[in-house]
Amino acid sequence: MSLSNMLPTKLLKKLQCISCKNPDLFLTSSGGKLICGSCENEYNVYDGIPSILRSGPETQEWNPWDLDEVKMLGDTFYKRAKGDLPEKESSKSFANLIKSKNLYTEHSSFLDIGCATGHYLRSFRRIIDPQFQYTGIDATDFYLQWGKKVFGLDDNCNFVHCDALNLPLIDNSYDIVIVNLFHFFPNLKEALIEAMRVAGKMVIWRTPIGQVNCMAKIILNNQSYEGIGDISLDRHDYDHCVYMLYSKEYIEGIVNALGGIITFFERDNDFGDMDTKSLEDINCIPHTKVIANMQIMGNLYLDWHYIGISV
Ligand SMILES: C[S@@+](CC[C@H](N)C(=O)[O-])C[C@H]1O[C@@H](n2cnc3c(N)ncnc32)[C@H](O)[C@@H]1O
Repeated sequence: MSLSNMLPTKLLKKLQCISCKNPDLFLTSSGGKLICGSCENEYNVYDGIPSILRSGPETQEWNPWDLDEVKMLGDTFYKRAKGDLPEKESSKSFANLIKSKNLYTEHSSFLDIGCATGHYLRSFRRIIDPQFQYTGIDATDFYLQWGKKVFGLDDNCNFVHCDALNLPLIDNSYDIVIVNLFHFFPNLKEALIEAMRVAGKMVIWRTPIGQVNCMAKIILNNQSYEGIGDISLDRHDYDHCVYMLYSKEYIEGIVNALGGIITFFERDNDFGDMDTKSLEDINCIPHTKVIANMQIMGNLYLDWHYIGISV
């Protein structure tokens, strides 16, 4: 195992400072901090997982993963990573897609944006290659620690605590970037710019497609009038998350405007029937039901697609 004082060497070479974008980050002798050789910013390293963000995702006024009840969702991701729960339908389907399109070679490196506990790696190792080279990034630190507990930490599997909108990674640092997260992002362009910047070859983006562009604001936790009072679009003070369903036409336009080339745009038909009510005892977010390859989440019908973007 190649570790530079508890930080995988290959990962250290890919990191950059989020303030001045300098790629020379030095690990202190204890391995507890990374220091930027240019602006001298300091970043903590927790048990081999660098934390390279200021105080949390800054441009996101919504962050449901901060809520205690939603944190329980992390527990199901942990169980899926360990094998105590079945692999997620989307993780099997992602692995099958990568394999069937021959997007993997034994030297390819993959970055998973919004990886939670790295539970996708379980499917990637089983379906594609036990030596799959994987880095997962997430803004929720203890999900990543759980990922480390399950998969260990080495050059083939490592994690970074950071913000998808300000990745501490040098340009073209991974061959392929995968993401199943951007449907929560109203600021899609910023998110895509970052993903495309760090991808050397391709971004594979899984997202629900809207028949028309559609923004859904889901109010979590309290559903009573006594609890939340008047609901209005401009209120942000209740716990919520957003679901952004972009139309195909919109996505083609934005990718084109950013200089990417769409190489495939196809429906994800590769998941089985399931009902998360039986798996997750989480009441603050709507349950998912999959019926005949369609995901119904609360009142939303999610028409999942894979979009391959060559950079
Ligand atoms: C619904 S989970 C998805 C996990 C996984 N991609 C999947 O499909 O199962 C969303 C994850 O994204 C993370 N996340 C949310 N906003 C983020 C941001 N701005 N930067 C990095 N991670 C973020 C959350 O902490 C959470 O673990």
